[in-house]
Amino acid sequence: MALENETIIKLENLTKRYGYGDAASFALKDFDLTVKRGEFIMIMGPSGCGKTTLLNIIGLLDTPTSGNFLLNDESASRISARRQARLRSKKIGFIFQNFNLIPDLPIIENVALPLVYSGYHKTRRLIRASEVLARFNLKEKEYYMPFQLSGGQQQRAAIARAIVAGPEIILADEPTGNLDSHSSQLVMEELKRIHSEGNTIIMVTHNQSLTQYATRVINMLDGTIDTDLKTVKDSDLPVPVSARKKKAKIKKKTKKKRSKK
Ligand SMILES: Nc1ncnc2c1ncn2[C@@H]1O[C@H](COP(=O)(O)OP(=O)(O)OP(=O)(O)O)[C@@H](O)[C@H]1O
Ligand SMILES: [Mg+2]
Repeated sequence: MALENETIIKLENLTKRYGYGDAASFALKDFDLTVKRGEFIMIMGPSGCGKTTLLNIIGLLDTPTSGNFLLNDESASRISARRQARLRSKKIGFIFQNFNLIPDLPIIENVALPLVYSGYHKTRRLIRASEVLARFNLKEKEYYMPFQLSGGQQQRAAIARAIVAGPEIILADEPTGNLDSHSSQLVMEELKRIHSEGNTIIMVTHNQSLTQYATRVINMLDGTIDTDLKTVKDSDLPVPVSARKKKAKIKKKTKKKRSKK
C-alpha cells in the first residue's frame, strides 16, 4: 500500500493560446504537471513565461485552450460554473501580489467573504474572521479599512482571507513582491505554518532565496517546464491533521507485515 499523499492536481498536455494563425502566441504549451497533496511548489521564470496563466487555470479563474486539468481526479471542464464558484471559495485560497482587498470593506468583512458559501449566518462568519485575524496579529486592526494598514499587514489580512474557509490548495502569485524583507519573512512564516498543516501551496516568486521554504522548485520558460526539482520526497510531505491517524495506522500495518516476512 502506498504511503504517499494522493494526487490533488493533474495537468496533461495543457495549452493556453492567445490569438489565431500567424498572430497566435502560447502562454502555456504542452504543459504537464502532477501535484501531490502537501507539496509546497515554487514557480520561477522570466516575465511572460506563463506563471500567472498557470495559477489562474489551476484556480479555475481561466480555462485552457486544450488539454486536461484534473482537480481531485475530476475533469475541471466538466464542473459547472456554479460548482466552480463554490470550489473557488471553499477549496482554493488565492493570494495576489497587490493584496486585492476590497477597498471599501473593513478588514474583518474582507476576511469573512469566502465564508459566504459556508452556510454560517453573518455574525458567525465575522466571529470566524476575527479568530483568524487574531492568529495573524491583526485583531486590533480588524475594523480598519485596507488603506489604513501597511503593505505587510494588508498581505497578512489577504492570507487570512485566503485560508479562512479552510481551503486545501493555496495559490499565491508573488505574494511578497510588494513587501520589504521583514514583512516578506512574516508572510513566508505564515505560509510555512499553513503548509505544515498538510495544505498544498503553489507560489510564484522571483526571489530565489525564498525557495528554501519549498518542497519543489519549478523553473518555467516560454510556457513550459524548464527544470523541476523536488527537495522533499513525496512520502515525507506533511499530511492533513484529519488524515494523520489513517496514515499512521497504515504505516504500522506495513511495518508489521514487513517484520513478519
Ligand atoms: N489576455 C491576454 N491576451 C493576450 N496575451 C496574454 C493575455 N494574458 C496573458 N497573455 C500573454 O501570455 C504570456 C504569459 O503571461 P503571464 O501573465 O502568465 O506571465 P507571467 O509569467 O506571470 O509574467 P510576470 O512574471 O511578468 O508576471 C505573456 O506573453 C502575456 O503577454
Ligand atoms: Mg505574473
